[in-house]
Amino acid sequence: MALVDDEVSRGTQLFLSAQAEVAAGIDALFDQLLAVPSDPRGPLYEAMRHAAVAGGKRLRPLLVRAAGDLFHVDRTLTLRVGAAVEAMHVYSLIHDDLPCMDDDDMRRGKPTVHKAFDEATAVLAGDSLHALAFEWLCDPVTNADPFVRSELCCELARAAGPAGMAGGQMMDLAAETSDFDLQTVTRLQQLKTGALIAFSVEAGAILARVPPEGRRPLRGYARDIGLAFQIADDIMDVEGDEQLAGKALHKDDAAGKATFVTLMGLERAREQAGLLVEQAIAHLGGFGEEAALLRAIAHYVVERDR
Ligand code: IPE
Ligand code: IPE
Ligand code: MG
Ligand code: MG
Ligand code: MG
Repeated sequence: MALVDDEVSRGTQLFLSAQAEVAAGIDALFDQLLAVPSDPRGPLYEAMRHAAVAGGKRLRPLLVRAAGDLFHVDRTLTLRVGAAVEAMHVYSLIHDDLPCMDDDDMRRGKPTVHKAFDEATAVLAGDSLHALAFEWLCDPVTNADPFVRSELCCELARAAGPAGMAGGQMMDLAAETSDFDLQTVTRLQQLKTGALIAFSVEAGAILARVPPEGRRPLRGYARDIGLAFQIADDIMDVEGDEQLAGKALHKDDAAGKATFVTLMGLERAREQAGLLVEQAIAHLGGFGEEAALLRAIAHYVVERDR
């Protein structure tokens, strides 16, 4: 037992130091890549910076780094790809918070972009971050190999589009008025949240030029932590602390939305999330110490309070 506790606390330390390092790296990159021009586009850049700089858990860039570490990928490269996927994620949050979607006033402990600026600026800031994600991936600085760059772009496009995040968001809107069963909610969450998480893990392997058949364990890991992450988000919506979460909670039930919690109940949802974490870690059985950060992230996705 003491040994297990030791391992968990080592994992927590590893997680916290990697998260702090990645968060600082992402902030520095955004600061440089989103420099405000002194022309009438200034507010557009200010709005992107408001949403993107200094905020969030930076889970997706951390996953790119952790997966890249398995294959000794240069960390400046995993950080740039991390910035691209984080830009895509931030765009999805800006649009998710708009009045025509979830109509939220707070995000990451700050006013949402349409509150701090206005709706038109929020739409354009989202559009711009979406485009910048691809621009950064296409830049030879991200990777010298054009095949790697093109695979990163194709996979991110798939993960963000109608067969990924945007498709999941559409299903999520429908979840308020339909009687979705567990299988349909699982598919919804795999698209809405799982696809970008899966891209983040896969990107580490793409940068290392691991062929698709060699990525199978990582795909299994990503699928399981993606679902566990969303179950944790649904549990947090019911019993989380708004101050810690930095966003409004208790919204799913009020909207009559089918979630893992409404379908399974809190206890079973918690159990299921725990099983998924174990299963995710089991997929990494072929790796040794180099997968310690991925294992620590799997624990974190369900233990987090924000
Ligand atoms: C929130 O994502 C939206 C979901 C996909 C559930 P995160 O929980 O990763 O939000 P940040 O990036 O830490 O703000
Ligand atoms: C948002 O899901 C997911 C995306 C932005 C793709 P939610 O609406 O559940 O996220 P929160 O709870 O607002 O962070
Ligand atoms: Mg939403
Ligand atoms: Mg929302
Ligand atoms: Mg939510």
